[in-house]
Amino acid sequence: MRVAVVGSGYVGLVSGACFADLGHEVILVDNDENKLAALRNGEVPIHEKFLPELLERHRGERIKFSGDLLAATRESDAVFIAVGTPPTESGDADLSYVESVAHEISAGINGYKVVVEKSTVPVYTSQWIRTIITRNGADPAQFDVASNPEFLREGTAVTDFLYPDRIVVGVETERAAEVMRELYGPLTSEWYYGRADAIPRPEAAKVPPRLIITSTKSAELIKHASNAFLAMKISFMNAVASICESVGANVEQVKDGIGTDTRIGPRFMNPGIGYGGSCFPKDLMAFRAVAKENGYDFRLLDEVIRINEEQRHRFLRKVRSVLWTFRGKRLGVLGLAFKGGTDDIRESPALLMVQELLREGCHISAYDPAAMERAKEVLNSGVEFAADPYQAAKGADAVLILTEWEEFANLDLDRLRSVVKYPIVLDGRNLYDPAVMVEHGFSYYSVGRAVALAEESTTASGLKKRERA
Ligand code: UGA
Repeated sequence: MRVAVVGSGYVGLVSGACFADLGHEVILVDNDENKLAALRNGEVPIHEKFLPELLERHRGERIKFSGDLLAATRESDAVFIAVGTPPTESGDADLSYVESVAHEISAGINGYKVVVEKSTVPVYTSQWIRTIITRNGADPAQFDVASNPEFLREGTAVTDFLYPDRIVVGVETERAAEVMRELYGPLTSEWYYGRADAIPRPEAAKVPPRLIITSTKSAELIKHASNAFLAMKISFMNAVASICESVGANVEQVKDGIGTDTRIGPRFMNPGIGYGGSCFPKDLMAFRAVAKENGYDFRLLDEVIRINEEQRHRFLRKVRSVLWTFRGKRLGVLGLAFKGGTDDIRESPALLMVQELLREGCHISAYDPAAMERAKEVLNSGVEFAADPYQAAKGADAVLILTEWEEFANLDLDRLRSVVKYPIVLDGRNLYDPAVMVEHGFSYYSVGRAVALAEESTTASGLKKRERA
């Protein structure tokens, strides 16, 4: 099929590359000429596994880059809108980019097409898209609007797209449903999975994925409700972690005990320093705003957001309780990205924490496997960027683990111990077994688990006394 994808951000770029890998002809449309030139030149603007391979495979063949939305619409059977929906002051989504794209698409409706909203948008958006396209002169019989929310996670976006748990398609007509079935046919028929050059299947993936056809409003709600539910799971476990700390229980054991109930499940149950990223914080606010606008006061979401913010402050209090004062302290920070596997620092709890520690007068030496370039743009002073975790930890009063990179879960602990000033690790992501840390001579503070103090170090004995007190 011929597909136009409007917006070459995260969702647009990954969807475009994956649709090409499914055998479709894709035109990726963006109004940023520099971005288009970079993409045509073979540059990949985001850090995402398998994306460079897919773009390399299809660039100039099944993927073309264009600044001309009108022409791209005319040439396509389906036009995906994947532009940004940033939050406004009041928390609801700013849909002006979606509106202006819909306006432009209108003139390109030269035969039956499906206009598909792929960006995360509030309920009723598809109706508005339809109104705008019709209002600007398109024949209503010549197009349908569908909602096809995307559930990909940054870092695993390509495999999430190609091996999804489910594909949700919201439509109002059978004709639109048929186009969407055909688009995803290579996945639902398993044709793609039999190909020798298919992107490798993740272990847990079940194929073929189920295609769930719903109304457009239901599809829009599914996206917001999914993200809100996942964020709620994380906040729930963070709240449980706080109770664990108060009573001396171990949140990892509690998590295991809860998560093995198949009705609950083990995923998105990791406590830490709270969720971040470009989706959960924004989508929760937007969902709350949508609910309110439609007469429902979704106070549960307020609490999810409050717990999330509190989690960061709680961790900072923990750092303070270990260091006593902040001014002039040297901290080795491992992790700046909002989660492992990505270079994205948007709403990163790690970054917010570093900014707070800088305000308090700490010296920070930070290392992140992918996000340092981006972090440099916002952390302009007071931070040294290290070449590896050990350089970041060199001479540190304490080491802080703030992002769940796999690399940080496999550190050479003897080497780390030999470079720090004091053997203190505060782990905001529970990457280590406390007993192992103690064996390696560290005092180890994590989330929802008892403090594990190093034996016989002066620092530790001082802390031990305080801890008992
Ligand atoms: C999230 C959803 O997981 C995707 O399904 C969705 O498509 C996407 O938003 C979106 O709306 O576009 P993403 O923001 O890439 O994906 O990241 P997640 O893997 O969901 O992680 C979000 C945050 O939660 C991270 O800060 C992560 O560290 C944190 N997290 C995640 C936890 O603290 N604990 C967990 O158990 C899982």
